[in-house]
Amino acid sequence: MKSSDSKSRHLITAALPYANGPIHIGHLAGAYLPADTYVRYLRALDKDVAFICGSDEHGAAITLRAKKEDKSPAEIVDKYHKINAEAFADFGISFDEFHRTSAEIHHKTAQDFFLKLNEQNAFEVKESEQFYDEEFQQFLADRYVQGTCPKCGYEAAYGDQCESCGSSLSPTDLINPKSTLSGKTPVLKTTRHWYLPMQNEEAWLKDWIENGKLEGKPHHDPKNWRKPVVGQCKSWIDGGLQSRAMTRDLDWGVKVPLEGAEGKVLYVWLDAPIGYISATKDWAEREGKNWEDYWKSDESRLIHFIGKDNIVFHCIIFPILLKKHGEYILPENVPANEFLNLEGQKISTSRNWAVWLHEYLEDLKDLKHHKDVLRYVLSSIAPESKDSEFTWGDFQARNNSELVAIYGNFVNRVLVLNQKYYEGKVPEAIDLSEYQDIIDQMNAHIERCSQNLEAFRFRDAIQDAMSLARLGNKFLADAEPWKLIKTEPEKVKTIIHLALQIAANCALIFEPFLPDSSASLQSYLHLEGLKWKDLGRIDLLKAGDPVEKGDLLFSKLEDEVVEAQIEKLKASNSSKTEKSSQSNSKKALNMKEIIEFEDFLKLDLRLGTILKAEKLEKSNKLLRIRVDLGAEERTVLSGIAKHYEPEELIGRQVQLVINLKPRKIMGELSEGMILMGEDEDGKLSLIGPDKSIANGSAVS
Ligand code: MF3
Ligand code: ZN
Repeated sequence: MKSSDSKSRHLITAALPYANGPIHIGHLAGAYLPADTYVRYLRALDKDVAFICGSDEHGAAITLRAKKEDKSPAEIVDKYHKINAEAFADFGISFDEFHRTSAEIHHKTAQDFFLKLNEQNAFEVKESEQFYDEEFQQFLADRYVQGTCPKCGYEAAYGDQCESCGSSLSPTDLINPKSTLSGKTPVLKTTRHWYLPMQNEEAWLKDWIENGKLEGKPHHDPKNWRKPVVGQCKSWIDGGLQSRAMTRDLDWGVKVPLEGAEGKVLYVWLDAPIGYISATKDWAEREGKNWEDYWKSDESRLIHFIGKDNIVFHCIIFPILLKKHGEYILPENVPANEFLNLEGQKISTSRNWAVWLHEYLEDLKDLKHHKDVLRYVLSSIAPESKDSEFTWGDFQARNNSELVAIYGNFVNRVLVLNQKYYEGKVPEAIDLSEYQDIIDQMNAHIERCSQNLEAFRFRDAIQDAMSLARLGNKFLADAEPWKLIKTEPEKVKTIIHLALQIAANCALIFEPFLPDSSASLQSYLHLEGLKWKDLGRIDLLKAGDPVEKGDLLFSKLEDEVVEAQIEKLKASNSSKTEKSSQSNSKKALNMKEIIEFEDFLKLDLRLGTILKAEKLEKSNKLLRIRVDLGAEERTVLSGIAKHYEPEELIGRQVQLVINLKPRKIMGELSEGMILMGEDEDGKLSLIGPDKSIANGSAVS
């Protein structure tokens, strides 16, 4: 396996976020968190790493935002570059460089790159007809044209994509196109652009992506690339690549450095990835390094962390550009993630359906090691092979029953016992032979974690780390030193000694994933200068070494905090949708991901009649409902107290999911879920049968 070991330098990039809005958890889960975890792992291996990112400050994403906020593009990028640089730094994403594409060095780097390709005749110059807004005297970028989607009829589709059905479009596909600048119908006008004829590159791209070969020589192991990434590339290539314009008629961006190209800028997807190069230059200059060692040497390993919407740009277009230029290495891997959904819906900036990083950092700051908690949850649900879902309920459960109850509990227990029995000095191990099995299991978890990290499987890797904590927790619980302390004091010394060594290993293995709590634990244990290679050692601590009692590593997250977050999400979302519904007569459906029919069949849906309904004393939202299902009766807690009076419900037939795992809500068991319709304002309505039907009947 080609691994982090085979090369001496590592250039790790994370997609440059557009400086047009704040960072949310979807961005983190998609690119920044896995990249940061990987980089921290490489640093723990003592590797030479450059971790590169920055703001993407050009393109319609910026100019449209500027228009919306009634500001200049420069004001927009200054505002969001600052917000995002700060949020990343506060959260602890450990970029070596967070650059920006408005920097002078970037404009020069991108222009030189373009000129070099142009000298090599890499481009075709072609004339074509494009939409033009006569009132604003401006050609319209794809995003500046809106109209009706020819595929689904959605009335506010953009010239490049319909956000309702997801089809990719060209501006001229739209029915009844309108300029978003003047609101008028645009005209077609001739313009001239520089195109990259990608159709000529299909053969080597295919060999490179499918077989990992470049010019006949092995370049990377294709098995290490993620299936969805390879799949998307294959379908692009098999569908036939086309010429793509590398210039645009816009006044915001990197100017095309040629005579006769006034008023034109480089296509943002040409300029932005070159941003990785300019950012590396900026970093190298500051650090006294040579940037070319990272970009132009076979001793260097380039990895791009991105979200799935960026795959074609990083696996096809940018590699073509790098190869045509001639001096650059190509990426060894592009571990792209799928999307993260939030509480059953797509994350959406315009509908404000998101958990914003800067708000999380403020709102959850009382939760112990709150940054690590978010890192833990997002890594555990990382959308590596398919879209996944963040819910606040799951967030709470993972904090309370994993971080607090397993890792935190284990560490706290062993530190407290060591304080109590041995005044905080590591006891001697009298005889470890009895526990060889525990030591073997520890090593197996560590080995698996390393393998998963090498293969970019962060979701599995963090569970391996948690398995180590779970092993320690179970070891202490089973060994019950508190029962043996009077009768077998020698054995207890061995137990606490080993448990402390496991805790020390936890502090190391969690470091790339949960840096803050690891640092706390390392300080309690007085561990210093240890690296990944020290994992697995059971002499990380010596008998007699002082160890602190420390603080709890994690704290319980209360229901109120979680409920407040859900309320906040719903409130900001409904106020936005009201506004936007005035401009768009038909809104996006925001469908969840497609599921298999078998998945649907797993749900057991039945009809039942409500026998009894009463308010719960402790809650103003919940009703306790007794339902007759024919063969049995069940009690269900349902959050409809604000929508129905208990008496209205008696005798109504409702649909229930009866095979959901029973859940304790506010201390009471709920044995099913009543189905309800919910509109955008959160108004709920029961869904009963059209005519009465026997209780217990199946719904399908
Ligand atoms: N700004 C783009 C996005 O958010 C990503 C740019 S990645 C780069 O989707 F390679 F172009 F820099
Ligand atoms: Zn559509």
